[in-house]
Amino acid sequence: MNNELNIPKHIGIIVDGNGRWATERGLPRSMGHKVGAENLKKICLYLDELGVKYLSVYVFSTENFKRDNKEVDFLMDLFVKMFKTEFDEIIKRGIKVVFSGRRDRLRKEVLGAMDYLEEATSKNKGSCLNICLNYGGQSEIVDMTKKVCQMYKDGEITLDDIDVDFVSKNLYQDLPPVDFLIRTSGELRLSNFLLYQASYAELYFPKTYFPDFKEEDVLKAIEEFNKRERRFGGNK
Ligand code: IPE
Ligand code: IPE
Ligand code: MG
Repeated sequence: MNNELNIPKHIGIIVDGNGRWATERGLPRSMGHKVGAENLKKICLYLDELGVKYLSVYVFSTENFKRDNKEVDFLMDLFVKMFKTEFDEIIKRGIKVVFSGRRDRLRKEVLGAMDYLEEATSKNKGSCLNICLNYGGQSEIVDMTKKVCQMYKDGEITLDDIDVDFVSKNLYQDLPPVDFLIRTSGELRLSNFLLYQASYAELYFPKTYFPDFKEEDVLKAIEEFNKRERRFGGNK
């Protein structure tokens, strides 16, 4: 059945609603993150099965450091545990994991777990999972600007080298544009996710909280994507 569907090449997911999912069940927010993380792993594997070549997931924004220390610490510990012990199937499946975001402010255990996962999957030839952690779209554009200015200063490039593709290649990861952007939990905003890459993405905002966002919801989302008419500024 899926053969009939046009599968987006690059999907972005803003994993949202973990806290509300837990609160509505009388549970601590941390439980929402735990169940959300387990679900995220399943969704990554499912999208790989469907043939999605690039998947970007937003798991921690630069702004999420504003949260209580307790919640931030829980999330960081959860990332370490997930990357070190829960990603075996992702590694075996041949998925290549990369990270987008700033490394500053992250504890060395977190950086170690990220490096481990990148290294363990660096030779994988399958789909690409881009984990956006301590990521902000504005910071990414700032960091790209500094990098490109340095290249110019060092005489490696001229002003004419700088165009849309060049900028894209000099972001945290050199990935194709986002075709389909999903944000769970019903919030209608981007919250600083892939601002450059999502210029022509189709947007989809299901009301479901992320821990309840299952394979059948993913399929429904892709069916919705198939109904969209993409124009890229053209007239048909
Ligand atoms: C998303 O869930 C996970 C992270 C931001 C790390 P939230 O924690 O934002 O959940 P809500 O939006 O408060 O329900
Ligand atoms: C965006 O969600 C960041 C992630 C999902 C990682 P938030 O829950 O932090 O966004 P706001 O605060 O509702 O905009
Ligand atoms: Mg939220």
